[in-house]
Parts: sequence; structure tokens; C-alpha cells
Amino acid sequence: MGKKQILTIPDPLLRKISDPVTSVDAEIKNLMDDMLETMYAAPGIGLAAVQVGVLKRIIVIDLSKDGQKRNPLFIVNPKITFKSDELISYEEGCLSIPNQFAEVKRPSSCKVNFLDYNGKKKEINADGLLATCIQHEVDHLNGVLFIDHLSKLKKDLILKKTKKQIREIDRVIV
Ligand code: NI
Repeated sequence: MGKKQILTIPDPLLRKISDPVTSVDAEIKNLMDDMLETMYAAPGIGLAAVQVGVLKRIIVIDLSKDGQKRNPLFIVNPKITFKSDELISYEEGCLSIPNQFAEVKRPSSCKVNFLDYNGKKKEINADGLLATCIQHEVDHLNGVLFIDHLSKLKKDLILKKTKKQIREIDRVIV
């Protein structure tokens, strides 16, 4: 087990399409354990494997609140089979786009098929925050970031701010 480094934009890997997992074996389970540890440490509520540099279709999510029992969800090879017409808006952020947040509208509920931590087939009907989180993470597996759902103006502003942040980080290295 170990915490991994989280890639941030403009890392080109974040724009790649991740490959399906052929078998949920010990190596994949180790990766999922590491992803969960990395996500808890960040802290975040969702993480895709590509964000730790592995182009595999794996997501970990935990929406439990501080002080509650942890409730990790391991999602391998997700397929969204239904998205509602009704939309919902959440202020989203992303561990790969540090300190930037924006309202994103997405279908308010969705149905997703996937393999769980033990390689078993599962299906869940998600709504609210979980539906948004699953869609955000599945986007990662397809090289899509939440800023891609914004107007060009808002997206450019976030990209500009992120570049400035990176420059500022560079400057304090003494
Ligand atoms: Ni993200």
C-alpha cells in the first residue's frame, strides 16, 4: 500500500482514454487500495486511476462525511447505461485542477454497470451527489475534465489561474 502522486493539468496523460481492466487481480486490488489511500489523504471524494498515472478504467469514490464510517465504492470498467433528462448543478472541483471550482450541470441521476473490488458485476442507480461524482470520474476515464463542461470564457479563466498558480509555486523554491 502506498500513497501516490496526483497528476495535475496540463499533464497530457489526463487527456488520454483509459483501457478496460481485463481481470480484477491482486495487482488491480493493490492499485485500488493505493488509490483509496491517495484520495483520503488528498482529501477528495473521488479519484480515477489516470489521476495517479495509470490508464485503466478504475474509479474509487467515498461520499461519507467526516466522522462517519468510511464507505468506499470501487468501480471497475464502468458503463453508464442511463442518464436522466433532468439536470442538477453542483459546484465541482478536481484533485487534478487544484483550488478551482465551478458550477457544472449534469444529469441528476444515472445507472451504472461495473465490476466491484472482487470482480463481481454490480449495477447501481445513483442520484444527487453520487450521480455527479460517478459522471465526473467516468469523464476522467475518457480524458474529459469538468472544465470541458464550462463555457470557453470560464474554462480559459480557470486555465489562466492554474498557470499562474504553477508559476507562483515555482517562485517560492529557494
Ligand atoms: Ni476530477
